[in-house]
Amino acid sequence: MVKAVVAGAAGGIGQPLSLLLKLSPYVSELALYDVVNSPGVAADLSHISSRAKVTGYLPAEDGLKLAFTGADVIVIPAGIPRKPGMTRDDLFNINAGIVRDLVTGIAQYAPTAFVLVISNPVNSTVPIAVEVLKKHGVFNPAKVFGVTTLDIVRSETFTAQITGQADPSSYRIPVIGGHSGDTIVPLLSLAQPKVDGLTDDVRDGLIKRIQFGGDEVVQAKEGKGSATLSMAYAGFRFVESILKAASGQSGLVENTYVYLSGIPGGEEVKSATGGLDYFSTPVELGPQGATKVHNLISKASDYELGLLKVAYSGLAANIKKGVDFIVAPAPAK
Ligand code: 2OP
Repeated sequence: MVKAVVAGAAGGIGQPLSLLLKLSPYVSELALYDVVNSPGVAADLSHISSRAKVTGYLPAEDGLKLAFTGADVIVIPAGIPRKPGMTRDDLFNINAGIVRDLVTGIAQYAPTAFVLVISNPVNSTVPIAVEVLKKHGVFNPAKVFGVTTLDIVRSETFTAQITGQADPSSYRIPVIGGHSGDTIVPLLSLAQPKVDGLTDDVRDGLIKRIQFGGDEVVQAKEGKGSATLSMAYAGFRFVESILKAASGQSGLVENTYVYLSGIPGGEEVKSATGGLDYFSTPVELGPQGATKVHNLISKASDYELGLLKVAYSGLAANIKKGVDFIVAPAPAK
């Protein structure tokens, strides 16, 4: 029996993500929480003849408590999306409080659940989630993840468009760092199968496209939001890996943004980054969550090390902003 919760289930990412989870054989109970329309989305999905039992909750009548209690995994896509011209960091003021409040509910009602944060800016919202859990004395580094899978998905797709690889998903291209602009660092030198023979211009263009791929969708949607369907796919891919690992499957490794200390291998990555507490990197998954963090920094090319240097300073600022939001909140004006 696995209970999955989507917090922000009625939104642009939440709805397709909930649909995919309703279809997953690893989910037996699916609780949908949102501030509006979650009972409607739940009623709709409940007609699908897959085995997961679906329920929908609003904040009224202890909805958050009922949705979260007994959860094994809680995915958080809640919050507002970007409009053209905005960076993910511009979402901080609204989404930070939303994530803080939802994770406070997790600390109260589902303190041992896997927590998967999609809400942007992920570079800062994961530190917010961690600080809230620490404050309540229930933080487990092996169970809190920032979902950066869409960067992996984009790197597979965009690379295949250049090389002509017929099945983009056959690529394995690590993307490390964070989930925002130049904190996203694709390691094309470690691609499998190998990506050879790109001119410097083509390589630079490909890297920029992976880093700023989210902007393409924001612009194409003309003010009506950011990536929802590809994000739901990516989020689902990550949740299923967590659930497969939890059910005892071995060999699962996913790129994800984690709190490094407390996960084996984490200190090595932390020191390679010059002391960052959070970093996205391939992480081995087991029944209890993250079991090992892989250090790819030591294998990066000199060119990629240059990109990483830029990423480190952006990440340091993003992480500090998230941590400060909980531990040193600005005084009310
Ligand atoms: C993106 O990368 C929404 O953060 C998401 O497009």
